[in-house]
Amino acid sequence: MNAGRKYLNTDDLAGKVFVTAGLGGMSGAQAKAAKIAGCVGVIAEISEKALKKRHDQGWLEIYSTNLDEIVGLIKEARSERKAISIGYLGNVVDLWEKLALEEENLVELGSDQTSCHNPFLGGYYPVGITFDEANQMMTNKPNEFKELVRESLRRQIAAIDKLAKRGMYFWDYGNAFLVECQRAGVEMLKENAKDDKDFRYPSYFQDIMGDIFSMGFGPFRWVCTSGTPEDLKESDKIACQVINKLLKGDMPEWVKQQYVDNRKWIVEADEHKLVVGTQARILYSDQAGRTAIALAFNEAVRNKRITAPIVISRDHHDVSGTDSPFRETANITDGSAFTADMAVQNAIGDAMRGATWISLHNGGGVGWGDVINGGFGMVLDGDLETDRRARSMLSWDVSNGVARRSWSGNDKAKEAIIRTQKTVSGLEVTVPYQVDQELLQNFFN
Ligand SMILES: NC(=O)c1ccc[n+]([C@@H]2O[C@H](COP(=O)([O-])OP(=O)(O)OC[C@H]3O[C@@H](n4cnc5c(N)ncnc54)[C@H](O)[C@@H]3O)[C@@H](O)[C@H]2O)c1
Repeated sequence: MNAGRKYLNTDDLAGKVFVTAGLGGMSGAQAKAAKIAGCVGVIAEISEKALKKRHDQGWLEIYSTNLDEIVGLIKEARSERKAISIGYLGNVVDLWEKLALEEENLVELGSDQTSCHNPFLGGYYPVGITFDEANQMMTNKPNEFKELVRESLRRQIAAIDKLAKRGMYFWDYGNAFLVECQRAGVEMLKENAKDDKDFRYPSYFQDIMGDIFSMGFGPFRWVCTSGTPEDLKESDKIACQVINKLLKGDMPEWVKQQYVDNRKWIVEADEHKLVVGTQARILYSDQAGRTAIALAFNEAVRNKRITAPIVISRDHHDVSGTDSPFRETANITDGSAFTADMAVQNAIGDAMRGATWISLHNGGGVGWGDVINGGFGMVLDGDLETDRRARSMLSWDVSNGVARRSWSGNDKAKEAIIRTQKTVSGLEVTVPYQVDQELLQNFFN
């Protein structure tokens, strides 16, 4: 939806086509997301098992191994403005090349969610060989396999370039696709690139989500340990009541917009049937929202409105938990994006303030060596002492990253941390004063 707003200047994606790849662990949500957003989602998946799982689950509505049939389905759905998810069981390179050969431009939006952060060990399947052949070759003939992967990426980006020239908007989904194309030898930087990650296609994070982490908003989540859908529904209701209450308070328009968008999401979440196993939910929220929701959950566990403890957590892709110059901290432009201390400080601070467990690990998202992630889990058992721990830890877990982004000069972060200090007692953060660039230049001259 945001991609439509950003690139096509519309909230109405009816009749617009989004092409991508991957129906795996995370990427599987693309089929459902396309349907919710109201567009024609076309997703290539090389693994029959992965594709069938999403089809059986109902997220992927229809699929074929025949590219002519896929093109026919796209044309029909486009003209009928039908929201539908269409799977192509095959290699995404074949799909892009087929679409690039079509006379008519059939694609408005494009991306890729293969596991390019791990391209040579099963994350990316090269075109021209079968899924089983690839699985054998990556261990039996790793060097030849690597070359096939690189050749495949070169072909994929060439077809994407062709469609982009005809008006398609393409973006990186945070899976290291652009970096791997670059490593495969393709010129991926802009003509006047300011650094070695200034790619000629945008990353969804900076371009679509904007500086959301500076605002302190990120994917807060919770799990109902009873495992019952009833508890999850009740928790949705509680979260919605908390947002309604927060919205009555005084807040800048940009915070209000976030709460309103996220209230819509939580109100509709249950009817979209997104839960496939654990009774869990993700909701974007800021420090004030996360704390208020956690306290309301703990109270609900205490008075048995919820039947068993709730575990709160968040994604690594968040305000404070990850140092990753190719994604989460890519918009920190004071030169400190290449340090890896925020995630470490965050995990240790969370541990000291009462997390039930923490994690600190490399890899994840953009891949090993390019990222450090810190995470936590906290069990809300209804205890009054848990209220204190939740308040203290969530304040650190969000404000740590907002403060760091404020120090690096991100405007929204400065505004957010000044605002948070007014409501959280004991939070004292030094606020940076920006030097007038002209004055600085004159000084050096
Ligand atoms: N943007 C985000 O917020 C975000 C969130 C989660 C994951 N990711 C990234 O997205 C990527 C995918 O995550 P995942 O959990 O779905 O991984 P996954 O490995 O479970 O799924 C990827 C799927 O791509 C398929 N695939 C690989 N090469 C293909 C090809 N050439 N043609 C067709 N299908 C192909 C695989 O068979 C697999 O099912 C990862 O790199 C991950 O780090 C980004």
